Amino acid sequence: MHVFEPHPAGSAANPLDDASADPLVVAEQAAADIARLTGVERHDIALTLGSGWGRAAELIGQTIAEVPATSVTGFTASAVSGHTGSIRSVRMPDGRHTLVIGARTHYYEGYGVRRVVHSVRAAAATGATTMVLTNGAGGIRESWHPGTPVLISDHINLTGDSPLEGATFIDLTDLYSRRLRDVARSIDPNLDEGVYVQNRGPHYETPAEVQMAKAIGGHIVGMSTALEAIAARQAGMEVLGFSLITNLAAGISPEPLSHAEVLQAGRDAEPVISELLARVVAAL
Ligand code: HPA
Repeated sequence: MHVFEPHPAGSAANPLDDASADPLVVAEQAAADIARLTGVERHDIALTLGSGWGRAAELIGQTIAEVPATSVTGFTASAVSGHTGSIRSVRMPDGRHTLVIGARTHYYEGYGVRRVVHSVRAAAATGATTMVLTNGAGGIRESWHPGTPVLISDHINLTGDSPLEGATFIDLTDLYSRRLRDVARSIDPNLDEGVYVQNRGPHYETPAEVQMAKAIGGHIVGMSTALEAIAARQAGMEVLGFSLITNLAAGISPEPLSHAEVLQAGRDAEPVISELLARVVAAL
């Protein structure tokens, strides 16, 4: 049973909640914590593991260190009790280092967008120049059965929020790098791609909202990734996005959605898509 704890009692103050704090300075502090705790000074690639993608970390290389996310400045305790999100430093066979983020803070947790994108900013501050974002999501295309991995080609951010503060104008053309999508397709030429629509959640969409997402050009619905991708671009990173279709979006299939089934679809697909992801990361 997953018990959702929006604001766990007794959690220490987070420096990102101080409106006068500069989130990029907090990210630098987090990167210094990561270097100290893992013993790895710089990372090349960062990878956020969403539902269904968890096993990729073991396949990418040798885990040098794994630390609880809450030991790093600015990170938020996992909303699901019993799950401690972790951060791992993995050495790839070619000597590069990947920072594997198994601790995502979702926008729907209500902590604000600074906390949502902190892991991405911290990863950039560790030196990572490539950000791989993965998630589990609903599919609007009927041909995508649960378990299908899909490349994200673009997004529509329906949260109404942005990680950018003040008059910060960032170009998002080619946000999900065409070059990196081509690298992924060199590993699996059958990979489809689609436009990811980020909704706030945590409720799933109504069938009417799914039809709206389709009408405005969306193919995938989910509750993460878009805000993180924007922060990654602001930090100058090249972004690759992957969705695992865990279910057909509401109303596309006559079946009602269940969180347990979404998790099960992720578990079932995990061995295959984790291997795909590890091979793609090795080729980046
Ligand atoms: N909608 C939004 N988020 C999701 C879904 C969905 O259908 N499935 C998994 N995450």
